[in-house]
Amino acid sequence: MTPSHDVVLVGGGGAGLRAAIGIAETNPKLNIAVVSKVYPMRSHTVSAEGGAAGVIGADDSLDEHAYDTISGGDWLCDQDAVEAFVNEAPEELLRLEHWGCPWSRGADGRIAVRPFGGMKKMRTWFAADKTGFHMLHTLFQTSLKYPSVVRYDEWFVTRLLVDDGRVQGVIAIDLKSGKVEAITACAVILCTGGCGRVFSFTTNAAIKNGDGMALAYRAGAPLKDMEFVQYHPTGLPFTGILITEAARAEGGYLINKDGYRYLQDYDLGKPQPHPVLRTMELGPRDRLSQAFMKELEKGRTIETPHGHVVHLDLRHLGNKKINAKIPFVRELCMKYQNLDPVKDLIPVRPVVHYMMGGIHTDINGATPLPGLYAAGEAACVSINGANRLGSNSLPELLVFGARAGRAAAEYASRGFDISPCVIAQKTDEHRRLEHDLLNKNGRESIADLRDAMQKTMEQSAGIYRSGASLRDGVQTLRRLQERYADISIEDRSRTFNTERVAAVELAFMLDVAEAIVNTALRREESRGAHQRTDFPKRDDQRFLAHSLSYRKADSSSQVEYLPVTITRWPPGERVYGEAAPHGEPHHITGRAVSPGTAV
Ligand code: FUM
Repeated sequence: MTPSHDVVLVGGGGAGLRAAIGIAETNPKLNIAVVSKVYPMRSHTVSAEGGAAGVIGADDSLDEHAYDTISGGDWLCDQDAVEAFVNEAPEELLRLEHWGCPWSRGADGRIAVRPFGGMKKMRTWFAADKTGFHMLHTLFQTSLKYPSVVRYDEWFVTRLLVDDGRVQGVIAIDLKSGKVEAITACAVILCTGGCGRVFSFTTNAAIKNGDGMALAYRAGAPLKDMEFVQYHPTGLPFTGILITEAARAEGGYLINKDGYRYLQDYDLGKPQPHPVLRTMELGPRDRLSQAFMKELEKGRTIETPHGHVVHLDLRHLGNKKINAKIPFVRELCMKYQNLDPVKDLIPVRPVVHYMMGGIHTDINGATPLPGLYAAGEAACVSINGANRLGSNSLPELLVFGARAGRAAAEYASRGFDISPCVIAQKTDEHRRLEHDLLNKNGRESIADLRDAMQKTMEQSAGIYRSGASLRDGVQTLRRLQERYADISIEDRSRTFNTERVAAVELAFMLDVAEAIVNTALRREESRGAHQRTDFPKRDDQRFLAHSLSYRKADSSSQVEYLPVTITRWPPGERVYGEAAPHGEPHHITGRAVSPGTAV
């Protein structure tokens, strides 16, 4: 018998679990399925480190959080969404406290907050530097309280069921048995995270392949603002493992090969005697990653076997502070880089971290396709505009996970009949996955195509892009799409057939990659994380607008534009470190990590 639920959630990370709880609380009678390709505690939310922003201090205000977010996003954020977000973030974080999240506390027992990049006030709540782990754990254990939440762990969704102009469920592979099943529902919420894996060097787990984005896109829903790809300035070379911004929030410095705090040369303020809330290292991520590229051009970076790096210096923080505030940073450096930040410099370079774009939704997570909702990194509401501020994504998944859950619950409570022909779609998908895919005997290897796609993305759509690099990217991706038709699959088994999953994921990634490159080519301006060397200025006349990509029959994208919602903050200039007193350039002499010590 076909499993049937009122609402199906795809993805068991922070957004998915928060949405599940939201549905259960809105209407306890609704039967909820959480379908996840990994066990929920292995979802990528678990690896978030630095913290979650929400106004709490008496010196702070919701308007300041909104303004930092909007200016940080280079005015591409929808301001009604940002206002809802900053209003609801503190209560969501407090709710998590009541559900058991062990937020770090100050000496007076109150919730502790730390500064974070682009945030001009201290408002980032944290649980040491394992914030995502503790938040996900809290959400997971809370979701277990609700008998109406049924889990499908290690089920991989390959298609949405759509008929009669509305989404009516999903088709998924039960990875353990290999069986292909339809799971019907009145509403589906996609919470599958981002697609960092379309690039070769990323902080993202191997599961982040843009599955949900591609599912929605293939079903006819548009993807929004896909050209905006966030590079985090501090990843470990080779592995791409994130060294959290919290390391800089606690006072870490970025220095070039001469031991010079180079960020003072990039309109990000000057060094100050007391590190807290100086801009410099706590500037927004787009600016810091661009500054790295400029240092590279000037020959002031350090060459290693795994690319050029600069150094993150934590040595002056001392053993006690590092162990108390950022123990995970120390652990990661020791395990993966064979160095101890208490006495050694950490080599770091920018790394793909987050997608500002995603499935186009309204402020309640609804997509234009009836019955389909999205939340978290898979979605674009949009509160992040052209550049997300660090520590806004964890509260985003709470606020908009809850909103999407409530909206889907209300929609599903109306009750809908499942069309008989969606079951026929299962037969088609079964044939595609079992017969067509498992009998693929072509000349192309999945790994080779994936590698070529990732390299193409780095070369064509990296921190700086140009019309020429993007046009090359579009053409190469088109060829890769064609070559995909000729792949080979050697593993014909059913149980945990990871090759079949990789084949479907690659198809998803190729779709999403094309949307990134095509929208980046059409956006002839520089804004936030989208920097065009041939159009170096922001152009509000032409591009104060969201891009919307629709998938065409030949799997290329058609791009349209949607105005940005401005409520109270008209477009202005992004200014950082303006209040900083001008001091002497700060030089640090230190023991550099010599090339070759990495991993
Ligand atoms: O650096 C970090 O801890 C990342 C945080 C974020 O992406 O919000």
